[in-house]
Amino acid sequence: SARTLILAFETSCDETSVAVVENGTKILSNIVATQIESHQRFGGVVPEVASRHHIEWITRCTDQALTEAKVTYHDIAAVAVTYGPGLVGSLLIGVTAAKTIAWAHHLPLVPVNHMTGHLYAARYVGEFMYPQMALLVSGGHTELVYMPQEHQFEIIGETRDDAAGEAYDKIGRVLGVNYPAGKTIDEWAAQGHDTFKFPRAMEKEANYDFSFSGLKSAFINTVHNADQRGEKLNKYDLAASFQQSVVDVLAEKTMRALDRYPVKQLILAGGVAANHGLRSRLDHDMHKYHPDVNMLQAPLKLCGDNAAMIGAAGYMCYQQGDRAGMDLNAEPGLMY
Ligand code: KG4
Ligand code: ZN
Repeated sequence: SARTLILAFETSCDETSVAVVENGTKILSNIVATQIESHQRFGGVVPEVASRHHIEWITRCTDQALTEAKVTYHDIAAVAVTYGPGLVGSLLIGVTAAKTIAWAHHLPLVPVNHMTGHLYAARYVGEFMYPQMALLVSGGHTELVYMPQEHQFEIIGETRDDAAGEAYDKIGRVLGVNYPAGKTIDEWAAQGHDTFKFPRAMEKEANYDFSFSGLKSAFINTVHNADQRGEKLNKYDLAASFQQSVVDVLAEKTMRALDRYPVKQLILAGGVAANHGLRSRLDHDMHKYHPDVNMLQAPLKLCGDNAAMIGAAGYMCYQQGDRAGMDLNAEPGLMY
């Protein structure tokens, strides 16, 4: 039939997620069991806690994904799974679940890169066009990826230290915001002004790389120095100033990449792609500097880790002929 269903697994970090996706463009189910609360008291993801949660939840999530999609294993064409990058213990749970199901039901096993998954979250809002550029911003990665054609990835720039999301989480901690802090800082930023003028690292350098550790240090020093003076700084202005620096650098480097690489389309995806400041800034800049380049922003609900994005990427990889055997292993440092 014309209906190709992918059963997809995502367990690279702290979300246990299983989805059923039709033809890479329609979500039949997307179960996401978050473990954020278990990690919050530690101020970040604890790998051992994460893998234990994945083990506890993966079977229930799988059953629920099939039930909600109103399908059985019989209807599934292939099993797709994130095998890297991510936490090795977490990845292994998804990989093992996917292998077991593929073996038991004689289904092809399709290995998917987590970052390709983030990219394909945008596939739910429109068709992909090539050559294509993507700004992928998450808690673990910040990269500009050039794709001359489907399934061909070239990282043209990346962060030299912290990822954008990581920087949000670290400065959030200084302001007493629970992990993950991005969403709250984003909300505070909307209520403040860029009064602090933090550094914009590497903004004018002739490359497509990023650096956020200097910004993070400047932010932390500012807060600590004020603390020592017994002064309380406006948290909304702090958030707005931090966000303005991040967004300025991300947007400027992306525009410069588009000057150098003529593409048909820009994709914005990854956890930090949920950032309202970044989304509207790219809307504005694309309209002004690259009006002929189409832009797709991953839907807000699919920016964070989820299996529906792995199902969309998995469908593409399945059609491209990617297959893994029972020896598929987790690859924590996978690079495409
Ligand atoms: O892609 P993701 O869910 O997990 C990784 O693969 O890393 O990204 C999570 C990151 C966290 O650092 C979180 O603070 C950040 O995305 N994030 C945001 C926003 N929502 C989530 N950062 C900025 N603004 C947001 N609205
Ligand atoms: Zn992610």
